Amino acid sequence: MKAVRVHQTGGPEVLALEDLPTPEPGPGEVLVKLLAIGVNYIDTYKRRGLYPMPLPFTLGEEGAGVVEKVGEGVVGVRPGDKVAFANVQGAYAQYQVVPAERLVPVPAGLDPKLAAASLLQGMTVHYLLKGTYPVRPGDQVLVHAGAGGVGLLLIQWAKRLGATVYATASTEEKRALCLEAGADYALPYEGFAQAVKALSGGGVDVVYDGVGQSTFEGSLEALRPRGYLVLFGQSSGPVPPFDPQVLNRKGSLFLTRPTLHHYTATRKELLFRAGEVFEAIRAGWLRVRIGAEFPLEKAREAHEALEGRKTTGKVLLIP
Ligand SMILES: NC(=O)c1ccc[n+]([C@@H]2O[C@H](COP(=O)([O-])OP(=O)(O)OC[C@H]3O[C@@H](n4cnc5c(N)ncnc54)[C@H](OP(=O)(O)O)[C@@H]3O)[C@@H](O)[C@H]2O)c1
Repeated sequence: MKAVRVHQTGGPEVLALEDLPTPEPGPGEVLVKLLAIGVNYIDTYKRRGLYPMPLPFTLGEEGAGVVEKVGEGVVGVRPGDKVAFANVQGAYAQYQVVPAERLVPVPAGLDPKLAAASLLQGMTVHYLLKGTYPVRPGDQVLVHAGAGGVGLLLIQWAKRLGATVYATASTEEKRALCLEAGADYALPYEGFAQAVKALSGGGVDVVYDGVGQSTFEGSLEALRPRGYLVLFGQSSGPVPPFDPQVLNRKGSLFLTRPTLHHYTATRKELLFRAGEVFEAIRAGWLRVRIGAEFPLEKAREAHEALEGRKTTGKVLLIP
C-alpha cells in the first residue's frame, strides 16, 4: 500500500510517499480501507517535530472508510461496515489498522468523506463548547481563525447554543465565510482585543484560541474579569513561558490548554461526542465545508496550503 511517511522532521518537503506492506489486524484490531483522510493542523506539528514522535512514522490521525478485515476477538464490527476514527496515528495511507474500541460507526446516509471531514474537528468543537467552558445562551464568545476547519464549526455550534460570536480571520474572503457561518462580527487580527472589548461592553466570557503565539496576549485582553481563555492550538507558533500573575492582574482569569484525547478517553465519551456531531450534520444545521481535496500523493501540497493560510474549512486527502 502507499503511505506518507516522515523519516526526519522538517518542512512539507520531508513528506515521503512509500510502498509498505498492507498491515494485518492483531487481536482487538480492525483493518480499514481508507476512502478519505482528514488533514489536521496537528499533522504539521508532528511533521515539524514540535510534537516529538519516534521516527520514522506515518503521518495523519483521522480517516473514514470500509472495514476490510477484523482481528481476533473483535465483535460488533464486520467487513463492509463504514467506519471513522480520530486520534489514531497512521492515517496518511491506503489502509490503516485501528483498535476496534477507537472506531466510530458512520451512520447510514452519511458520506464517509463527510465523516472524515468532521469527526476530529467536530468532536473538538463539541468538547470545547460543552465540556471545557459550557457555553450558555447570552454568552459572548470569541473564536480565532474563524474560517478554518475548527473555526467554521465552532462559530455554527456556538450560535446554536445561543451565544454572540466574534470571529477573527486574516482576509476579507475568510471573514465573509465567518459571517456566513453565523458569526455576529468578523474582525481582522489587527486591534481585535480593543474592538472586541468595546463591542462586547467590557470583554467576552470565553476566547477559543487555536492560533497561539500571535493572539495569546490579545485574547487575555479581550476577556471580561473571570473570563476563560481556552488555548487549544498554536497555528502561529507556541506560546512562550507565562507568568500566572498576569491572570490575577487582568481580572482573575482562567486559562486552560485542553486536548481532544482527554475528552474522548472512554468509549462512552467517544461515541457520545461523535454521535452528536454526526446527528448535527444529519439534522442539517451543522454544515461542513470541505475547502480542499488532494490526492494522497499530494500531501506535501496540502501541508503547504494549510500552513500558508490558503485553506478554508476542512482539507482532505483522498487515497
Ligand atoms: N486541542 C485540541 O483538541 C485540538 C483539536 C483540533 C485542532 N486543534 C487546533 O485547532 C487549530 C485549528 O486547527 P485546524 O486543523 O482547523 O486548522 P485551520 O484553522 O483550518 O488552519 C489554521 C488557521 O490558523 C490561522 N493562522 C493564524 N496565524 C497563522 C500562522 N502564523 N500560520 C498559519 N496559520 C495561521 C489561519 O487562518 P487565518 O488566515 O484566518 O488567520 C489558518 O487557516 C490548530 O491550532 C489545531 O492545532 C486543537
